[in-house]
Amino acid sequence: MATSPLIIPHHVAIVMDGNGRWAKKRYLPRIAGHKQGVDTLSNCVKACLDRGIGVLTVFAFSSENWSRPSEEVSGLMELVVLALARKVPSLNANGVQIHFIGDRQRFSEKVSSALVQAEASTADNQRLIFNVCFNYGGRWDIVQAAQKLASRGEAITELSLDRAMALAHVPDPDLLIRTGGELRISNFMLWQAAYSELYFSESLWPEFDEAALDRAIAAFSARQRRFGQTPEQVNGLAPA
Ligand code: IPE
Ligand code: IPE
Ligand code: MG
Repeated sequence: MATSPLIIPHHVAIVMDGNGRWAKKRYLPRIAGHKQGVDTLSNCVKACLDRGIGVLTVFAFSSENWSRPSEEVSGLMELVVLALARKVPSLNANGVQIHFIGDRQRFSEKVSSALVQAEASTADNQRLIFNVCFNYGGRWDIVQAAQKLASRGEAITELSLDRAMALAHVPDPDLLIRTGGELRISNFMLWQAAYSELYFSESLWPEFDEAALDRAIAAFSARQRRFGQTPEQVNGLAPA
């Protein structure tokens, strides 16, 4: 039987969940799981480049994650600064343009300037757009977009709201993956995931390797995206 060619999603979004459980299984502090998660993310960026994926958006810290123990929150803030210091050269070597998506008002000066510097230094890269959602919530994004339009006195339409969102520089995600086995969205991309294909992986994020990514892509490739149409319309067997 002839196999159909693999369809590579243009935009992949990932809820990177399971770092804490990965650490707990090894009797390590939760932050050790987050550190391992940074290495997994770095490998994932390379895997996306190899597969010709155009946009990768990851959920790294949610609006709700501030309610975690303060030691874990401050550890995550330090980790992002450290990870950028280590990884920005390789982002530049590989043509990766990084963006941080989220509310920056609560960050320290040190964290804010690390984000701004990383964005500025990778701004001309064109191979992969890499969005890191950090102090991000889907509800926050919808509210800030609506506030922006209201302050400009602009009408709220699907298009105007879409263009005012923090993720307006990329098309909606084609494939949305959540690792760690939980079957929920947890306030990620509420607006943009309207027609994303969802894929849930039992792998804890630090274990999510190239083979796991390929399984998600294969599952995506086998789906029929209908956007409200009938299967016959999608297959070109009925009028569109
Ligand atoms: C996801 O892993 C990373 C963040 C939310 C920062 P978790 O830290 O939620 O890991 P689990 O779900 O406790 O295993
Ligand atoms: C979602 O994971 C947020 C990130 C991966 C950054 P959580 O672990 O915070 O989600 P809940 O609380 O289990 O829904
Ligand atoms: Mg979790």
